[in-house]
Amino acid sequence: MSTSSKLTIDDKTLDFPVKHGSIGPDVYDISKLYAQSGAFTYDPGFTSTASCESKITYIDGDEGVLLYRGYPIEQLAEHGDFLETCYLLLYGELPSAAQKHAFVDNVTHHTMVHDQMNRFFLGFRRDAHPMAIMVASVGALSAFYHDSTDISDETQRMIAQIRMIAKMPTLAAMAYKYSIGQPFVYPKNDLDYASNFLRMCFAVPCEEYKVNPILARALDRIFTLHADHEQNASTSTVRLAGSSGANPFACIAAGIACLWGPAHGGANEAALKMLSEIGTPDNVAKYVAKAKDKNDPFRLMGFGHRVYKNYDPRARIMQKTTHEVLSELGIKDDPLLDVAIELEQIALKDDYFIEKKLYPNIDFYSGITLKAMGFPTSMFTVLFALARTVGWIAQWKEMIEDPSQKIGRPRQLYVGSPKRDYMPVSQRS
Ligand code: SDX
Repeated sequence: MSTSSKLTIDDKTLDFPVKHGSIGPDVYDISKLYAQSGAFTYDPGFTSTASCESKITYIDGDEGVLLYRGYPIEQLAEHGDFLETCYLLLYGELPSAAQKHAFVDNVTHHTMVHDQMNRFFLGFRRDAHPMAIMVASVGALSAFYHDSTDISDETQRMIAQIRMIAKMPTLAAMAYKYSIGQPFVYPKNDLDYASNFLRMCFAVPCEEYKVNPILARALDRIFTLHADHEQNASTSTVRLAGSSGANPFACIAAGIACLWGPAHGGANEAALKMLSEIGTPDNVAKYVAKAKDKNDPFRLMGFGHRVYKNYDPRARIMQKTTHEVLSELGIKDDPLLDVAIELEQIALKDDYFIEKKLYPNIDFYSGITLKAMGFPTSMFTVLFALARTVGWIAQWKEMIEDPSQKIGRPRQLYVGSPKRDYMPVSQRS
């Protein structure tokens, strides 16, 4: 197994250590490249760059494998639950019964938000996008919870981690209720995590709300599928924000902002809008042609992935969950599902998609499921952010606890104007 790699530049040969992971590709440690060569590497989009060491999540894009702390996503989705997965991502091991009970109890007793947050919400327009409200309200948590913003204090870090996991569903439900003009519903401590969220979203003061256990289980599984995903764009954003010493609430707010983009977490909302625009299965061929046309910026939302060049394992589980939810709700023929199935069948047989290794990703089916559950499309990415908060906070925790951690500071290839002197306005043309 090689321990060093050589780079020859002109008449100079530089040695760089090769670091081996427990599984997956090796890395060439080029941290001394600039000092030794005066040159930078160039890798916009970081397709060939490892930004850190991590023990949390492993993805094999070619094999379509996703492991949380070594456990396959399929097994965790089938046999585990979201809060147990949160414990695993945060602390590295599945909890014992006693550890799980204590963790769930801790999260449960942090689900309320400071009541003045209600007034904070009143500043938003009712038609504000819920993601705009989430970016603002999560950032605002650092204005309410000063007693857990000192990142040098391990106890404060732990409390902030619990608070983030516990309060995201409450804030997300508040964002939804606010957008439809209904009163906020407080969390109930005798409900599990997903049931509590469903009730905070869909209960009204005028009548008892009965949680559908099938939908609650499906939503809990959806949260598990979205919990973490290695160094994706929003997680890298959280790590970079955290590397400056910013408090965890501010870092998570930065992650939410990045996730909002349609190329990332906003794809579930964009995918459902795309399926609605296609409308019927016989329109699919036209849109597949648009996606293949180099001159047409249209892309099939919910298709393709920066890492997966095989089927996203989460999409398979998501598809199964979609069918479960639709049948529980007695939705026999959802036109959007018919379009999605036709689109997937056509695309997976088409040379363009085969050659470019474009498969459905997690966002392809999630929108259909969430819409069937009663969520508006504007809430889809909010639910993604709710679930991904544990991944962001676990990766932030790993970074903060890394003794070699320092502020992230990429360099650039400068292609602008060389040095030139100031010209008074009287001499400018
Ligand atoms: C998520 O990183 C993560 O882990 C993200 C995520 C997570 O859990 O955090 O998995 C969540 O963000 C999933 C991805 C959701 N986004 C979408 O569904 C939006 C649609 N997909 C794309 O925009 C695109 O596939 C990306 C952004 C996901 C990946 O973009 P890349 O890396 O630029 O894609 P690529 O370089 O591998 O593309 C190769 C080729 C390109 O054509 P050429 O320039 O080589 O001719 O395939 C084309 C692309 O133009 N292509 C598509 C396409 N996706 C890529 N063509 C049509 N439709 C698409 N969806």
